[in-house]
Amino acid sequence: MREWTREERYRVLYSADEISDLHDRNAQSIYRQKFHVQPVTGLSSDPNGFIYHQGIWHLYYQWCPWGAVHGLKYWYHVTSEDLVHWKNAGVGLKPDTFYDNRGTHSGSGYSDGDDMYLFYTGNHRDDDWVRTPYTCVAKLDEEGNAVKLPEPIFGPRDDYSEHQRDPKIVYVPDKKKYYIFIGAQNLDLKGRALIYESDSLLEGWKFAGELKVPGFENFGGMWECPCIVHISGKDVLIFSPQYTKLPGRAESTNHNVYFIGKMDYDTLTFTPDGGYHYLDYGFDFYAAQFAANVGDPDKAILIGWIGLPDNHYPTEEEDWEGSMSLPREVRLVGDHLVQSPAAAFEQLLGDEVPADGKLPDVCDMAIQVPEGAFDLKLFTKADGSGGFSVHYDEAEKKLVVDKTGLTKRFNQNVGEVLEIPLSEGLADIRVIIDSCSVEMFINGGAVTFTSHVYPVADEHNYVVTEGAAVKIRELKPSVKDDFVV
Ligand code: FRU
Repeated sequence: MREWTREERYRVLYSADEISDLHDRNAQSIYRQKFHVQPVTGLSSDPNGFIYHQGIWHLYYQWCPWGAVHGLKYWYHVTSEDLVHWKNAGVGLKPDTFYDNRGTHSGSGYSDGDDMYLFYTGNHRDDDWVRTPYTCVAKLDEEGNAVKLPEPIFGPRDDYSEHQRDPKIVYVPDKKKYYIFIGAQNLDLKGRALIYESDSLLEGWKFAGELKVPGFENFGGMWECPCIVHISGKDVLIFSPQYTKLPGRAESTNHNVYFIGKMDYDTLTFTPDGGYHYLDYGFDFYAAQFAANVGDPDKAILIGWIGLPDNHYPTEEEDWEGSMSLPREVRLVGDHLVQSPAAAFEQLLGDEVPADGKLPDVCDMAIQVPEGAFDLKLFTKADGSGGFSVHYDEAEKKLVVDKTGLTKRFNQNVGEVLEIPLSEGLADIRVIIDSCSVEMFINGGAVTFTSHVYPVADEHNYVVTEGAAVKIRELKPSVKDDFVV
């Protein structure tokens, strides 16, 4: 793993020429994704500003241009008409003011008629590296360039730690007010969310109070990327709790959860119907956000980062890493969410290939699981050894995913085996494989499992329990490595 000095990580990008060689080198990697948004160069982490505005889906990602390192963060902009074919659109936000001198950190988008706004965290650090996070806004001009408001809409509170960031803006029609949720840590080092309110989008913001989630006062040490959406008459709250271990998550201390319940803006209380659920059970899924302005009361669109803070991935050797998940349609079914790839994803499905144990480099694999115990091993050698194993334990009604059989092992310290309780049993798995990721939609998407994988040349085979109905389809590419900065 390369060591980076602070100066190297926080270098400002003045001209695209400075990274054109890096782009050409990164684009050569055998692990470049074919239909997932990935960094134009260097590192991508959280999805940001995800929104449908005037016929276009806008998505940004946290971007460090220089390599696979969390350094000076920009927002990089990509656009799509269908959530599947994405175009690189260049830098979305750059850290070029006093308030964001050490990074334009995560945030959300807002569509107001003809106008589109980005709400983000300005990560200011002084010469002693003391951090002050500001909540800042930019408005897109006619050419789509983000023009920043000269001043933040508010700064941090001193009764919370320096960790106050990731504004999610919502308008609540019943209250005729705008609200911003901020991920935070209190002075006892507990994860919290803060709520600000205003009658107007760009001014008059005041602190309303702390979000109360009864029963979850002691749930991790920081809640990153809070986001809230209303689906089918319920409120769904998501965030990424950190600095705590949770059941079934091995040694990882970074997670992404959701709650279904009711948000009361008078009391600032989110009352969950039950406990928390994992948004995704995989090794690598974090900082997800719902798209704004989807316009369908029964559907939300979700996207996450295939990666975790503190983790390291094999493409660091090639000076790039990170990928967005597929954008997913999310619906409420009973007491849980059900996820599936965005509808237009089906356009990428190509020819069916024989289910003969060979795994195309990128593909969609639909499996109907027979009764009883079940095993699926992806990315095995031709003799069936090694690989990424998915085992259903019928007696315990749980799925055990074990990646220790892969040649390229990574993040061993946070655990390579995860268990998913499946009280209803296992009926089907849809596996979507891109060059360096696997996403599984299990039991019709009631459970999802997302991970990076870096198969080597002789790891393009699979083995599955006899009796399983397997249908494999090729997938067409839908992202390009265009150098747009
Ligand atoms: C989550 C996060 C956010 C922050 C951003 C910085 O991964 O730590 O809380 O805004 O990344 O890149």
